Amino acid sequence: MKLQLAPSILSADFAALGDDIRKVEEAGAHMLHIDVMDGHFVPNITIGPPVVKSIRKVTKLPLDVHLMISDPDKYIPAFVDAGANIVTVHAEATVHLDRTLNFIRSLNVGVGVSINPATPVATVKHALGLADMLLIMSVNPGFGGQKFIPYCLDKIREAREFIDEHKLKCVIEVDGGIDMDTLPPAVRAGAQVFVAGSAIFAGGDPARKVRDMLELAGTLGYHTKYV
Ligand code: DX5
Ligand code: ZN
Repeated sequence: MKLQLAPSILSADFAALGDDIRKVEEAGAHMLHIDVMDGHFVPNITIGPPVVKSIRKVTKLPLDVHLMISDPDKYIPAFVDAGANIVTVHAEATVHLDRTLNFIRSLNVGVGVSINPATPVATVKHALGLADMLLIMSVNPGFGGQKFIPYCLDKIREAREFIDEHKLKCVIEVDGGIDMDTLPPAVRAGAQVFVAGSAIFAGGDPARKVRDMLELAGTLGYHTKYV
């Protein structure tokens, strides 16, 4: 699989969201990462289904909806109705992860499961057969612009080995502190989908940042064992 870039709109200009989305779409981004926070599971509040519905109207990119919320089962249908293509829940936010992943599957959208930096891969590995994507957080969720936590590379490697060994279809996404410096080690560890927020939207010219990252991913990607 080709490496994929998923710009996170968390660091975009929310008053000009349509423009920022159009810029990254035209520059070749593969999907749009949407961070949903509830002020309970994480110490921040962001957006809900109405905003996802508006975003759906301005882009053809798949919407990768990252739910950093407690009791996700309650809200998953609303995000699916709003136009989500992949819905990712946190293992730490669900009591019955197997049930939640099957529930997302029953709604005919992509199924994602995420783990915080300090949560071991072992917590979810038996459920990876139910998921299309494993999202490994490389910062503590809640805010953009944080520093990549290096030990998360070990977790990417561990998940990569397990997925390959069991021939699972689940892809590995990494989220948090991804920039031109941290992308290469994350690629080498075996991640395939890269979320980047501040590296793309902070400081202007998101289109150029997307092109730069895609170019870097291209030079790395085709030489790894995993793409
Ligand atoms: C953090 C979010 C991330 C965030 C990444 O809780 O899940 O998607 O937007 O932002 P950067 O790339 O700035 O670390
Ligand atoms: Zn995210």
